[in-house]
Amino acid sequence: MNEGQPPPAGAGGAQTSAEDLRPSPPGVRFATMDAIRHGSPGDPNPLRRLSPDELRRRTSMKWRAYPDDVLPLWVAEMDVPLAEPVARAITDAVALGDTGYPFGTGYAEALAEFAQKRWGWDGPAPERTAIVPDVMLGIVEVLKAISGPGDPVVVNCPVYPPFYPFVEHMDRRIVEAPLGGDLRIDPAGLENAFRAATADGGRAAYLLCSPHNPTGTVHTHGELAAVAALADRYGVRVVVDEIHAPVVASGTAFVPYLSVPGTESGLSLMSASKAWNLAGLKAALAVAGPAAADDLARIPEEVSHGPSHLGVIAHTAALRNGTEWLDAVLAGLDQNRRLLAGLLAEHLPGVRYRPAEGTYLAWLDCRSLGLGDDPAEVFLERGRVALNSGKTFGTGGAGHVRLNLATSPETITEAVRRMTAAAA
Ligand SMILES: Cc1ncc(COP(=O)(O)O)c(C=O)c1O
Repeated sequence: MNEGQPPPAGAGGAQTSAEDLRPSPPGVRFATMDAIRHGSPGDPNPLRRLSPDELRRRTSMKWRAYPDDVLPLWVAEMDVPLAEPVARAITDAVALGDTGYPFGTGYAEALAEFAQKRWGWDGPAPERTAIVPDVMLGIVEVLKAISGPGDPVVVNCPVYPPFYPFVEHMDRRIVEAPLGGDLRIDPAGLENAFRAATADGGRAAYLLCSPHNPTGTVHTHGELAAVAALADRYGVRVVVDEIHAPVVASGTAFVPYLSVPGTESGLSLMSASKAWNLAGLKAALAVAGPAAADDLARIPEEVSHGPSHLGVIAHTAALRNGTEWLDAVLAGLDQNRRLLAGLLAEHLPGVRYRPAEGTYLAWLDCRSLGLGDDPAEVFLERGRVALNSGKTFGTGGAGHVRLNLATSPETITEAVRRMTAAAA
């Protein structure tokens, strides 16, 4: 699902002629994408393998929503070729005409093996797992199973923008529990939100984002145990979006929510989609804790018809055979976080950035730049670089932007150059 941020009027269309391009501010010249040099198929870093030309030929949202002179570092797509084992699995299926309906528990078994090897967790038992079309539709189905119209859903703002419309579209109401100043869950704020959400006796849920989009916060075992205890005390059901789980910085351990004692009634949504760039190959898994198996069983059978068979094949191959590729991407992301921190310190010291422990997203506090509530608009208009507007992430997002680090170091360098020129 995209980030709920349509390009501004007039920004769409890849076929923009030179005459349509907005003028650069006086004295500033922006390199075309051709001037950004990377793209060697043999590069050990998958984030440097594709050339700007190859990326421009893509037809997905990241590369088509803005004109060609805009450097796109917004929606959560990665500038990588597919992991080889994934590409092989799909091309083999296509060669065989194996393009029917999905069947069986192969994806769930692959997740269980991955979870065991990666996180030392034996939890996601295939019999307590259901395939769903994607993570957001999985969240909708799970929320339908555990709550009713008008019931509250607590979220930690600023948070992944589609949480708001998806929850509200299904007649649930959002209750915001802002993250603390350290960008971590604020236990007192969460308790206030739980108290408000349960005051009228409705069936409250908490939609936890773990790791957190946009801040990249990776919740610790202790934090998750405290969440579970609080939710239990207030009778709030916990639904966890763990789509970014495999994407953590070196030295950081991701803790699956359902691996923590006291989380038995929780439900998690997992997917290979973010870590292996498979958003176009629809599939995800809803995983129930032991005390939530009945809730999962209430999800209608027809929901399992939604994921694409090719998606299930791709996600299964990624989890089974894509870890070497994933590790190479994670190493590249570690470098990119350091690079961004260095570039910002040197060229835009007014921007506050804490290199995140997880996700490939960077959450930049631009409030001291004097660019107003929506610096993304200024960076786009004056700098021709597309970032996500912090305003769309709910309370606490104004004055911030989200930058997608899943690209080459050269592209990040050019993006900061453009942002610096735009902020001057
Ligand atoms: C936290 C989070 N949840 C869900 C999604 C969308 O997942 P899907 O396309 O599987 O619905 C994203 C995409 O970036 C995300 O960051």
